[in-house]
Amino acid sequence: MERDRPPQNHPTRDALHIELPHCSLVVLDEDQSAGLSRRLAAMEPWRTLGYRPETLLNYLHRHDAGLDRHAIVIEGQTAGVLSVRYPWLMGPYIELFAILGEYGGKGLGGEVLQWVESRFLANSRNLWATVSAFNTLARSFYRRQGFEEVARIKDLVIPGFDEILLRKHLAGKQAGSPLVTPDPG
Ligand SMILES: CC(C)(COP(=O)(O)OP(=O)(O)OC[C@H]1O[C@@H](n2cnc3c(N)ncnc32)[C@H](O)[C@@H]1OP(=O)(O)O)[C@@H](O)C(=O)NCCC(=O)NCCS
Repeated sequence: MERDRPPQNHPTRDALHIELPHCSLVVLDEDQSAGLSRRLAAMEPWRTLGYRPETLLNYLHRHDAGLDRHAIVIEGQTAGVLSVRYPWLMGPYIELFAILGEYGGKGLGGEVLQWVESRFLANSRNLWATVSAFNTLARSFYRRQGFEEVARIKDLVIPGFDEILLRKHLAGKQAGSPLVTPDPG
């Protein structure tokens, strides 16, 4: 068995500035992290889960070699955030994803998700995410994007609240290519 092949160029880490049709993805800077941590703490699901701005700021800003964090930008304004952990489990894990309220429902989330998928298609069989069970909008968003709910994880973030593990099979891997195994740890 062969492990999740490390790509020659990391699928998202080399992406300092990506232009998509309706937004750009840029590596998060300090100002964007500070603004985002305040906005995220005030919006669902993070508000109900009790995340404080300081906790989110630390998450967005701390050194973490396995995590790529991009701001989603439209006309110089921060419209959202995308954080992808790779390698994770035979593919990348979307650890944090948000489109800020005023930019939501306009197709941005779908556009960004399609970009993530396209970046990993050649190297990974799976794309993973989690969503809070009460987050019905995000659950239907991911379902429409081809994700399957594969497990319910009880009390993952805080007691009394379940998270749903989501998986999308990436079809790009050639049939007959070597099996992949998860990275250790
Ligand atoms: C889930 C999320 C990333 C989707 O991003 P988005 O830019 O709104 O996504 P899109 O516009 O591509 O699609 C949203 C879908 O919901 C529908 N929708 C309707 N009203 C909406 C609203 N007020 N806000 C968002 N979506 C709405 C859209 O029509 C669209 O339906 P479709 O897939 O059938 O076209 C975004 O809603 C979000 O950040 N939510 C809060 C944080 C969150 O839940 N993150 C994910 C789990 S941690």
